[in-house]
Amino acid sequence: MTKSGENFVIALDGGSGTGKSTTAKIVAKTLGITYLDTGAMYRAVTLVALDAGLPAEDGPAMDQLLENLTLGFDAENHILINGVSRESEIRGMKVSSNVSIYCALPSVRAAMTKQQREIGKRQSCILDGRDIGTVVFPDAKYKFFMVTDLNVRAERRYKELLEKGEKVTYEEVLANLAERDRLDSSRANAPLKKADDAIEIDTTHISIQQQVQKILDYVGVVA
Ligand code: DC
Repeated sequence: MTKSGENFVIALDGGSGTGKSTTAKIVAKTLGITYLDTGAMYRAVTLVALDAGLPAEDGPAMDQLLENLTLGFDAENHILINGVSRESEIRGMKVSSNVSIYCALPSVRAAMTKQQREIGKRQSCILDGRDIGTVVFPDAKYKFFMVTDLNVRAERRYKELLEKGEKVTYEEVLANLAERDRLDSSRANAPLKKADDAIEIDTTHISIQQQVQKILDYVGVVA
């Protein structure tokens, strides 16, 4: 809440591996506001569709899936799919390799955008994603867009996956990030794009703490 008592939204967009989610979590904690990981929501839809063997082209089945899907987050911000924590599964390469296809579906985007708006209107929050500043909350009080050199992003993501015990090569991770950027930026519906009024932060050579500080400096008036 601001000093005047209004809820506010911080939109944090950018490609995969730019450090958005780690930054957003710390900013949320520091400001005492809610963090919403919108990428986790698209990953969850993808996981459920893959589990059910549903091709993205099957519109009616996807509609049914969305109707029966309840997403939530636990206290640690881990995704709950119909009440069950499936955090580690949504982060694996199988979901990463398919999410850009499912998240481009208009029905999926409409359902997720609706939920994100409902959550964002109820409380002050920071949302990270691809289209938060352009589509979900075009009137967000603060908008940031993170960019990072692709190799640096791939190294970070590769390390994270290895730490989780996933068997991947650096080349696979690099190719996945590049392909997701390409698909996410070129889709017709809500593409990855910097909002005209977003502040760009290049995170290639700066630490997470410095990324956090840059955001807090801009938002300082409400802290
Ligand atoms: O942030 P992430 O890498 O976990 O996001 C996973 C995918 O979800 C990403 O490839 C694009 C999609 N996404 C999206 O289309 N819109 C958002 N607001 C957030 C994520």
